[in-house]
Amino acid sequence: MAQGLFVTLEGVEGSGKTTQAAALAEKLHAQGRRVTVTHEPGGTRAGEAIRSIFLDPAISLDVAAELMLVLADRAQHVREKLRPAVAAGEIVISDRYSDSTTAYQGYGRGFDLRLLGDLNRLASDTMMPDLTIVLDLPIETGLERTRARVKGAIRGPDRFEGEVAEFHRRVREGFLAIARSEPDRVVVIKSDRELEAVGAEVYGAVEALMKRRCL
Ligand code: TYD
Repeated sequence: MAQGLFVTLEGVEGSGKTTQAAALAEKLHAQGRRVTVTHEPGGTRAGEAIRSIFLDPAISLDVAAELMLVLADRAQHVREKLRPAVAAGEIVISDRYSDSTTAYQGYGRGFDLRLLGDLNRLASDTMMPDLTIVLDLPIETGLERTRARVKGAIRGPDRFEGEVAEFHRRVREGFLAIARSEPDRVVVIKSDRELEAVGAEVYGAVEALMKRRCL
């Protein structure tokens, strides 16, 4: 059975990952490809339970507990869903993955990056994306989009949406630093533009990878 592909979408709040993941999946489906779209935290039954604790601002969580929760979520996600789907030849698109832990818990919360690297490897069973797309935009634009969404949904901001601007700035810098250090895996695409223009670049990056892999 042909090996599939593992693509992750990353970025700060309001960067448009979820919309772009859906649009990318639709294009690939239309070509008759088998695609799984998933997300973190969540993506499995255990993950959805973890997610509800992880994001709830009413539940007091120490930052170390926050880190362990998201790693537990990943450990389950990789073994239950991601690895089997890729092994079955699917194109798996995950809305967030281990780079979010480096950016949010490392750059954002200040956890030691070397230690985080080890923990990420343990949680992910060393499964790395074939391609990571960081959707990048100024945090003010992203937070503005998120605020509009929160208002529409009549819910309060979650644990991260409620963080100060400086936190989100560090997270953005984290994603850009990851991209600089792993240029073969990570592509940065500006996302404060028309959805279609961003979507075309996202698809272009995936198409280039599929060509390289003869898929
Ligand atoms: P979510 O509602 O999925 O929103 P988004 O559209 O921003 O992905 O919220 C997920 C939140 O969890 C998001 O604020 C980032 C955070 N997060 C971490 O802090 N570390 C992680 O490893 C992951 C996967 C997510």
